[in-house]
Order: sequence, then C-alpha cells, then structure tokens
Amino acid sequence: MSTIAPVLTTATVISTGAPQRKKATTTTFRQKKAHGEPITMLTAYDYPTALAEDQAGIDSILVGDSLGMVVLGYQNTLPVTMQDMIHHCKAVARGAKFALLIGDMPFMSYQASTEEAVRNAGRFLQEGGMDAVKLEGGRERLEAVRAIVGAGIPVMGHLGLTPQSVNQLGGFRPQGKTAPAAKRLFEDALLLEEAGCFSIVLESVPARLAGLISKKLSVPTIGIGAGVGCDGQVLVTHDLLGLFDRFTPKFVRKYADFHGEMQRAFGEYIQDVQMKRFPADEHSVEMDDKEWDALQKEMD
Ligand code: KIV
Repeated sequence: MSTIAPVLTTATVISTGAPQRKKATTTTFRQKKAHGEPITMLTAYDYPTALAEDQAGIDSILVGDSLGMVVLGYQNTLPVTMQDMIHHCKAVARGAKFALLIGDMPFMSYQASTEEAVRNAGRFLQEGGMDAVKLEGGRERLEAVRAIVGAGIPVMGHLGLTPQSVNQLGGFRPQGKTAPAAKRLFEDALLLEEAGCFSIVLESVPARLAGLISKKLSVPTIGIGAGVGCDGQVLVTHDLLGLFDRFTPKFVRKYADFHGEMQRAFGEYIQDVQMKRFPADEHSVEMDDKEWDALQKEMD
C-alpha cells in the first residue's frame, strides 16, 4: 500500500469536511507522474459524454480528431477541419468542469506554417474553451511546438501510430517495432520534451519501448496500445463503450456494448409505436373537462 498522499484532481482539499475536487492542470500531470499515480484520459466530443466523464473523475478529456471516424463517419481523420474541432470542443467545455481539456489539432492546421500553427492553437483556447492542444509528429514538429508553447499554450505531443500520417505509414499499424524505428521514436520523444511538450501520447508502440521512454522522460507519457509502463492511459470513448461499429483495435478493452444496447432500445421503441403501446397516458398532456366541453360547444 502506498503511503504517499494522492495528488489530486480527484480530491482533497478538506476544509469544510467535504472533499473538494480541483480543476486538473498540466501541473497535476507532472505531480501524478512524480507520485507514480496513473493519469486517466478519455476522448469526448459532446456535452453529455464530457459531463459523465468529468463526474466519474477523469483527469483529462481529449477532444480527439478521432471525432472524424467515430462521430462523423469518415474512413480516417484527414477530413476533419478546425471548424469541426472548435464546434465539438465548445460542447465538451460546457460539460466538463474539472478535467484538463485538450483539443486535437486537425490535419493541416499546424503543418503548413508556424504562424498558422500558433493561430490555430490559440483558437482552441479562445473559442473552444480548451486548456491545451495536441499535435502529431516528432522532429519535424519542433518549430511548431516551440512557437505554440512560446505563446503560452500547453502542447501534448503524439508519437508512434499518428493517424494523420496514415497514408505515409501505409495503414493503421503499430510503430517502432524494429531497433532503428524504436531508436528514432525514442529520440523524437526526447526532442518533443526539450521543445516544451508537457506530455506525450504514445500510440500503438511496443510496451517495452513505451516503458523505456516513460522512464527516461520527465514529462508524463499517455499510452494507447503502448502497455502499462506509460504514466497514463487514454482510449477513444466510442471504442470503450462499444459504440463504434466498424472495428475495435486490439488494444481496446470494451466496457460496454452501447451499439447493441442502442439497437435494442430503438427496436423496442419502433415496436411500441407500431403497436400503439407508446405514448401511454402518463406521457400525454390533458386538458380540464370544462375546457374540453367549451371547445366542443365551440365546434358544434
Ligand atoms: O484523436 C484521438 O482520439 C487521439 C487519441 C487516439 C490519442 O489522438
């Protein structure tokens, strides 16, 4: 049993007797790593999901560009725009009070020029209500990371399987499996830390490599398909809930079957309407007999 007091978002200013939860910040991330406490993160794209995650005690919510696949139905994340992201960030920000909110910079919002990268990152905070941004890539992104951090905006890096490079990677496949590829990934992680990232997502990389990177970095790593040696974990919520019907990556643990449950509920509703079992009396509005009589007289 650990004798170290928990850091927390989830807890613990005891002044009036009732534990009060504090808003998570990038400092919370750092403290959690220092205490060896796993950081929890999930994606959300709308108000009710953000509210439920926040109330459940999640440390951080990522408005991921996975939005394009799991909500908007695209084949990959490339068509997602700044407008899409800001729209969904606003909804999430209205639902979550305590989690650290991270907006995912979509394809071509930070690659073309450093100036555009800074402006777009700023929009996530100014318009979207986010606390930080995430962007994909290693050594080729250092200038953008430095400039965004220089503007006072916390940046989360993302290495390994970077979905915006799906065409370059030849598909959604694990990365860093050979020694040279692993070395490059390791170096990229160090470079991103030096450039000022407060945390780095490691997606679909060997667990041993992710563990090694997590030990070497002073900033926390957040793994997705990267083993238990990372400082925190993230999943796409629609995968966790079983809400995404197309495929489930190997690294997902499904905690529910919401797609099946939705189908069941919709099917029941359709049958109830068809059989006139819905609406029942308790779902209907009535008027006073006196008013009804008056109406009928009026109509005669
Ligand atoms: O877009 C997203 O949801 C992500 C996570 C998979 C980390 O980038």
